[in-house]
Amino acid sequence: MPAHAGHSLLLPGVDLARDPYRYDLTELEGLDVLSEPSECLLESQAGVAQQFGVGYSYFLVNGASVGLIAALLAAIKPGEKVLLPRNVHRSVLSGLILSGAQPVWFLPERLPEWGLWGAVSLENLTTQLHRHPDVRAVCITSPTYEGIGSDVQELSALCRAQGITLIVDEAHGSLWPFTEQLPASACGFECDAVIHSMHKSGGSLTQSALAHLPKGSRIAPDVFQQALNALQTTSPSYLLMASLEASVAFLSSAQGQSRIQGLMEKNHALRRHLAETLQTFRLFQPAEDWLGFWDPCKLYFRHSSLPGEEWGAYIESERQIAYESASPEGVLYLANLGLEAEDFEAFRQVLQEEDKWLAAAGATDSMAQAGLELPNPSVLVPEMALLPREAFFCNGERVSLTQALGRVAKETIVHCPPGIPVLFPGERIQEAHLAFLPEEGVLVIR
Ligand SMILES: Cc1ncc(COP(=O)(O)O)c(C=O)c1O
Repeated sequence: MPAHAGHSLLLPGVDLARDPYRYDLTELEGLDVLSEPSECLLESQAGVAQQFGVGYSYFLVNGASVGLIAALLAAIKPGEKVLLPRNVHRSVLSGLILSGAQPVWFLPERLPEWGLWGAVSLENLTTQLHRHPDVRAVCITSPTYEGIGSDVQELSALCRAQGITLIVDEAHGSLWPFTEQLPASACGFECDAVIHSMHKSGGSLTQSALAHLPKGSRIAPDVFQQALNALQTTSPSYLLMASLEASVAFLSSAQGQSRIQGLMEKNHALRRHLAETLQTFRLFQPAEDWLGFWDPCKLYFRHSSLPGEEWGAYIESERQIAYESASPEGVLYLANLGLEAEDFEAFRQVLQEEDKWLAAAGATDSMAQAGLELPNPSVLVPEMALLPREAFFCNGERVSLTQALGRVAKETIVHCPPGIPVLFPGERIQEAHLAFLPEEGVLVIR
């Protein structure tokens, strides 16, 4: 990330890069006001909404994060319950603190042999809604960082039938609405808000993102606007907004479509080649029945004997191929729109050379010997002592790990990218958490 990889991905004639200062305007006469759009910004956002097939779209100048927080503020009131899988992005915590909502956590599917979170299944959501009939909203991450999507069509139909608001964090699926070669976007289903981090895979400038209220959304557009206005700057960057408008126009154009087609072809060829030849690395591909919900442009590898953080960092520093995220389990690379054929070729070559070298050196399947154990998902089921908002406003103190057991966390502890929490503020520290806490200690409620 960002998806443009340093190249302008805009239509010919639109050149934000040549003279960025020309586009760095403010809310002057004739340039409209983002918090109360009535002229060119209203028109531009309406054009974006039309491209996504939704009722309303909103420009975000503080990433998908601000869209998620606004969606939570618009959907729930203090004390109301929101159902959340544990693999939400940390910005959801800000939404919980600001709204004062009560989180009800559950675990999505898990793929232990890969160390990945999977989808939220219909069965799982049905069970959770039976258990917690007073839930007012659900917020899910689909797709995950590694590209695993849920069957949002089914999930949204269930929520709609029960009168529950559904927010879909589609931050990593910003290209999905633009091609049938990727899974269907939540924008076309019975969801109430969908958030896209356009800079991650859509080619716009970093920090720019979109929020959408699909047709039939239970969230009123003025309520969502009000929530956004409570969070966004009163000086939104026209450079970011222009980059959003221009990247949506590009992705929908013949040139953009051909660029997406090129990306899909290069990526499929790379995947095929690597899957056939690699001996010590394994390239993630989901089971057959989940293929239609998965984004193949996310290239996630596990090595048979080496921790991901180790080999990912080595390849980055020694071979100049940057990873997107690395954990003890594996390393994620992104096949993004801005990459050229030579980038794919360089990646293939480096991975194959390293693989050959490791195979010759006798790398074996010794994850257990290397002392690596996949995190036990039950570790991540919290015992909540306080609401996140209550914990946020309490006084805190830092304690060493030996003193942490039984105390209530005041800070968020995130084990590894992509920011999935081990502990959120207000959660009690249990024995099983200790191995995941930072050595320097942890901030707890005093
Ligand atoms: C699943 C998910 N949702 C939301 C976000 C926030 O996106 P942004 O960085 O555009 O605010 C991220 C960022 O990494 C993410 O991984």
